[in-house]
Amino acid sequence: MADIQEPYLLTPGPLTTSASVKRAMLRDWGSRDRDFIALNARVRARLVALAGGADSHVAVPLQGSGTFVVEAMLGTLVAPDGKLLVLVNGAYGQRMVKMADYHRRQVAVLETAEDQPNDPEALERALAADPAISHVAAVQCETTSGILNPIEALAEVTARHGRRLLVDAMSAFGALPLDAREVTFDGLAASANKCLEGIPGLGFAIVRRSALEAAAGHAPALSLDLYDQWRSMEQNGQWRFTPPTHVLAALDQALVEHAAEGGIAGRAARYRENCRILIEGMRALGFSTLLPDHLQAPIIVTFRMPADPRFLFDDFYDRLRTKGYVIYPGKLTVAPSFRIGCIGRLGSAEMQGALAAIRATLAEMGVASGQPAAPAAVINQGPSS
Ligand SMILES: Cc1ncc(COP(=O)(O)O)c(C=O)c1O
Repeated sequence: MADIQEPYLLTPGPLTTSASVKRAMLRDWGSRDRDFIALNARVRARLVALAGGADSHVAVPLQGSGTFVVEAMLGTLVAPDGKLLVLVNGAYGQRMVKMADYHRRQVAVLETAEDQPNDPEALERALAADPAISHVAAVQCETTSGILNPIEALAEVTARHGRRLLVDAMSAFGALPLDAREVTFDGLAASANKCLEGIPGLGFAIVRRSALEAAAGHAPALSLDLYDQWRSMEQNGQWRFTPPTHVLAALDQALVEHAAEGGIAGRAARYRENCRILIEGMRALGFSTLLPDHLQAPIIVTFRMPADPRFLFDDFYDRLRTKGYVIYPGKLTVAPSFRIGCIGRLGSAEMQGALAAIRATLAEMGVASGQPAAPAAVINQGPSS
């Protein structure tokens, strides 16, 4: 699918992008140029529409990687006298706790294991017990493991208790639905370079207009002030500081391709098929997924490290890289693992190609099976676990 020969990135990002997205960057744009201002407005309108928020929310883009916009969202929307409850089951939830600490905001944590989703009933109890909590933060797909968190149920509990939900939708936006007409949230943060298949360097938040209007003076840093970024962009259509022009041009093209593929549903269908091919193929080679299928988002899959002492991950990685496929190390604290992504400009041919390369690599390394040491088969049996 990626029509330029370069290694395929089966990672959580940066990702493989289409040649047409790359070509969209072959032009320089003046930041005050009429065409660029129109492009920026078009991208913002498309982003907010993807979140079903055209009547209630606004899109605020921000320079930087995804972390920058998550931090900007928390810092801008949680008032200095507010309190944030973070639902944690991986590194990106932990990172939001760290941000709140940096911002010297009151923060509480509700943690589940890395292979367990956030628990709406525990959230219910936590909100009932602590009226000081003003905001709840959750990660839609916790990329640490690839787990899908129950955002709809968490949103329902949060709204019923009159609190505000902020979602890190970084690795989900564009492929997993989060529609403001159906799910109540004040903010979500995402990036150009995950499921939208743009290039890295730009994040954006989709924020409830009324929440943003009430957020003047909250942000702990000028460059991360989403209120200021929004006000200034509304006034003249321009960015406050040098915009990542080429990244926006690439995102503009990526959004055209996203729509042509059938929007969120179309992209999700391709990623689900990528994920199915990957998991079936890896299981046939003896590998074991961390998650049961019903908790697995079609974004990135965590595999347990094989027990065979001949399987050395760095060697496996290098040999696959030579064959044209880049995978990703694990990020779990609970078990040795590695990850393979299903997102980016990849389809069934690339997933089959990756599996063939993995099969050949195992043979070269003398590894007969990817079976892990732990009796992980027990947790791989699907919905009943
Ligand atoms: C869920 C989630 N949140 C936040 C981030 C941070 O994004 P970045 O590495 O672009 O700063 C990532 C990156 O993969 C992510 O998957």
